[in-house]
Amino acid sequence: MTTYETTTVDETQAVAQALGKLVQPGDVICLAGDLGAGKTTFTQGLAKGLGIEEPVSSPTFTIIKEYDDGRVPLYHMDIYRLAEAAVQEDLGYEDYFYGAGVSVIEWSEYLAELLPEDRLVITIRNREDGGRTLTFASTGPVAAARLKELSESCPTSH
Ligand SMILES: Nc1ncnc2c1ncn2[C@@H]1O[C@H](COP(=O)(O)OP(=O)(O)O)[C@@H](O)[C@H]1O
Ligand SMILES: [Mg+2]
Repeated sequence: MTTYETTTVDETQAVAQALGKLVQPGDVICLAGDLGAGKTTFTQGLAKGLGIEEPVSSPTFTIIKEYDDGRVPLYHMDIYRLAEAAVQEDLGYEDYFYGAGVSVIEWSEYLAELLPEDRLVITIRNREDGGRTLTFASTGPVAAARLKELSESCPTSH
């Protein structure tokens, strides 16, 4: 487990950008945290690290938005609006999870058992001082390797 403390949007996006430089096809990244925690903000930084120039916005009305102009395709998903209906309304998630791009999923908890076993889970918490605490955990060897690389390229401040 790795923790980053950030005070500004730029700092959050710098961590995300470092991760964006490391991710590989088939990586699955789950973003947990309340509304306004910074999940979409983080995804924008990750997209920058992939070299994506198209602006990344909240995909609330599309569920899945694909960005193809970077080093690796980015599949940005936001399950919030579908919530519990997400599992029943199978949108072919597996084509994305096991596809040629990296999947970044906001509110992935609603997808439950549809998620691959090996995931990088990033939890963003809003601190009382207005900053954010980012906690990274891996649930398999691929995510663990990525997290190790991230710790090397983007050292934690403590
Ligand atoms: N350190 C920080 N890291 C990330 N976002 C921050 C930070 N400080 C303030 N913010 C603000 O918090 C909000 C996060 O919104 P957003 O990324 O859309 O959240 P979510 O996708 O989790 O609902 C943005 O308005 C952003 O500017
Ligand atoms: Mg969002």
